[in-house]
Amino acid sequence: MVMEDVPPDSPEYRRLKLALKGANRGRDLVKQILAFSRQTGHDRKSLALSHIIEEALKLLRPALPSTIEIVWKSLTNHDEILADPVHMHQILMNLCTNAAHAMRQEGGVLDISLSRIVIAEGNPAPVPEMVPGEYLGLEVRDTGSGMTPQTLKRIFDPFFSTKKGEGTGLGLSVVHGIVKSYDGYITVESEPGKGSAFRVYLPKPRVLVRTEPEKTASFTGGNERILLVDDEDILVELSKQRLTRFGYRVEATTGSMDALAIFRKDPDGFDLVITDHTMPGMTGMDLAVELLKIRTAIPIILCTGYSETVSQERASRIGIKGFLMKPIAKEELAQAIRRALDGDPLPISTK
Ligand SMILES: Nc1ncnc2c1ncn2[C@@H]1O[C@H](COP(=O)(O)OP(=O)(O)OP(=O)(O)O)[C@@H](O)[C@H]1O
Ligand SMILES: [Mg+2]
Repeated sequence: MVMEDVPPDSPEYRRLKLALKGANRGRDLVKQILAFSRQTGHDRKSLALSHIIEEALKLLRPALPSTIEIVWKSLTNHDEILADPVHMHQILMNLCTNAAHAMRQEGGVLDISLSRIVIAEGNPAPVPEMVPGEYLGLEVRDTGSGMTPQTLKRIFDPFFSTKKGEGTGLGLSVVHGIVKSYDGYITVESEPGKGSAFRVYLPKPRVLVRTEPEKTASFTGGNERILLVDDEDILVELSKQRLTRFGYRVEATTGSMDALAIFRKDPDGFDLVITDHTMPGMTGMDLAVELLKIRTAIPIILCTGYSETVSQERASRIGIKGFLMKPIAKEELAQAIRRALDGDPLPISTK
């Protein structure tokens, strides 16, 4: 938010950019580690891989310089796969960001394609030990720097990176780990100065029930009045600014008792309450119970940290309209607020 307020050519802007970069790197590292340690096969469902690719491209496109052209084509109509969408997203983001990085100086073409590959018994396969059957082939190709044979040998090693402090070196290890957990294969072809091509082969299950892809909702603000409670003053300050930018009128406090007093004084003065859960004095859940005693239908969104044990089921039983897990992304917050205000049914969010 501060970056939106300072001139882009100021030293402050550049420092903020560095701080943001550091924070994002921390986030990426945690994400990679979580993906790495994640139990396999938990959230597998039937999905269309082309949808995941399109989602990933939506995220990637704005982040890439205009000197990088993205070409994406699906060469098959049978792109269903039984997989965890988070895994597939990780594969794509890692391969594509590597490709983009390799082209960031000279520009080039990022070519993504999807095809169906059937390996018959006794026929040559892209990987000699490949089990015969039907596979979905994902190719991510770039016209970037390419790799020397020495680099190529080590790319799947955890923490191997040539990006001098800029990379975790976990990207391809994660990709490799995920592909293996699906009994898939990965190949690389690369030539220095010419570019690289990564190919992932994922076995297709024999029978699949197609499920609808999840809709991505757009986010909108509003001008309703919100009471905001969180015992961490930094979070209160940031959330207040964010909500104000969405257009809402916000009253914020760091104390749950205080929040209760404010609400009691003017129960109809608010359209929504957003509260943290773990707070000294009174928890968010207890606060919600008290607020609902004062005004039975007041929409409440409860926010919790990753390790806090709050049962979503209990929250909805009490009458809490929304449930968000920190850290809360901007879009997620905007959507949860609209849903709580517009009276859409639970659950608001699960992660
Ligand atoms: N498309 C590519 N073109 C050229 N080199 C690549 C490509 N993909 C990977 N590499 C090389 O492989 C190394 C390891 O890649 P990996 O994704 O595991 O880590 P990283 O990209 O360095 O770090 P991070 O993924 O956290 O940003 C890279 O540092 C780079 O040298
Ligand atoms: Mg990488």
